[in-house]
Amino acid sequence: MKRNNDLIELPRNEIPLILQGDVLECLNKIPDKSINVAVTSPPYWNLRDYETEGQIGLEETPEEYVKKIVEIGNEIKRVLTDGGCYFLNIGDSYYNSDLQMIPAKVAIGMQQNGWKLRNNIIWHKPNHMPSPVSNRFTTTWEPVLFFVKNGAFRKYYFNLDEIRTEHKTKEEKKSNLPEILSVEEFDKLKNKLNLKVAPSNGENYSGKFKDTKRINLGASPGARSVVHGEYYSLQRKREVDEDLKSEIIDYLRIHRVKKGVSAKEIDEKFGYKDTAGHWFRTDYSGSSLPKPEDWLKLKDLLNFDDKYDKIMTEQHYVLQIVKHHPNGKNPGDMWEIPTAKLKDAHFAVFPEELPRRIIKACCPIDGIVLDPFAGSGTTGKVSRELHRKSILIEINPKYIEIIKKRCKIHTRPLHTFVTNQELAMNENDE
Ligand SMILES: C[S@@+](CC[C@H](N)C(=O)[O-])C[C@H]1O[C@@H](n2cnc3c(N)ncnc32)[C@H](O)[C@@H]1O
Repeated sequence: MKRNNDLIELPRNEIPLILQGDVLECLNKIPDKSINVAVTSPPYWNLRDYETEGQIGLEETPEEYVKKIVEIGNEIKRVLTDGGCYFLNIGDSYYNSDLQMIPAKVAIGMQQNGWKLRNNIIWHKPNHMPSPVSNRFTTTWEPVLFFVKNGAFRKYYFNLDEIRTEHKTKEEKKSNLPEILSVEEFDKLKNKLNLKVAPSNGENYSGKFKDTKRINLGASPGARSVVHGEYYSLQRKREVDEDLKSEIIDYLRIHRVKKGVSAKEIDEKFGYKDTAGHWFRTDYSGSSLPKPEDWLKLKDLLNFDDKYDKIMTEQHYVLQIVKHHPNGKNPGDMWEIPTAKLKDAHFAVFPEELPRRIIKACCPIDGIVLDPFAGSGTTGKVSRELHRKSILIEINPKYIEIIKKRCKIHTRPLHTFVTNQELAMNENDE
């Protein structure tokens, strides 16, 4: 789209700036990289008439609609800062009894234009409208697509601490004291429940970081024994401190030298590669102690006595507890938020909790929020309450009055943009 030279002046305080006009025309007036988070809900395809020339949603086909929403996405991408986020609440539509999968098509179109999709959030409406349908399931949720320009770690603003929720379940509140089971107790439990336990010997497991992509697969092989969804790791019973560790390593090295075998030869005998060397290292911090089964094999090979056997071979199972964050948990991607009604508006408005959660997490305190389909201005109202600046775009002049009332705007002049369509109509009139 051709850039318009007369760009607007960005808001300087938390009174929402309203741009009245068509979404693309108005976006065109916003400077590059000036918005921190966009949150919006456009009219859904073929659902409602917003009684305005140029409104979105009444396209002939879902494809035309998807194309438009994706095109608007391009402009939003331009006005977002590099660390900016875009939350798009977009519902689906049926056509000839066939669910069109419009949100998915929009998401794919946006990804093809370089967006990264971070979440497909489910907004579940516990108070959804009763539906007359009797030959399929009632629709009870809508997606909220969460896009960023750059998905790399710490490349976009996301403040999880602002939106953590309370730990609720007993499991979540449980103290962090680890549960310990002896090997016998663990085996008994395993047999009693007739459970298949994931291998703890590293089978089917190719290291913590798979290939060179450094995808963290989580627990070490020892921690991969699962009973009832709980992770137990087989650990040495006695904790070996640094002094004891160096003592054992010295002891091992003396016996290896006495026997006249190299670490490489031990590796070959045990079927390892670059492992045994760590058991004899003089820089103790880079060393590691052999596993119980390796200890016993070494004992056979190097003929040492029982001195450290107990320490090196006695094991028990320790329940792995994921430490819960003291400030609460990540709210997850299933948001249960009741729908809201507004007597002034005859269209679906955001429940305030929806933009609130998004703005708190994704807009820094001195940032700017954008809602390009503002409707009744819920996003502006919430932004103001959260002391963030905001820009609201809305095509229908009737709704501007609702926005002003809800956002308590008495003074600020708003920008009105005459759309191309209106210009064309005026020219035709003459
Ligand atoms: C679903 S409503 C948004 C409701 C809003 N989230 C709220 O909380 O009130 C969609 C809005 O988009 C507006 N709209 C439709 N076509 C538009 C266009 N081309 N440019 C700007 N706004 C448009 C409609 O007038 C309507 O107010």
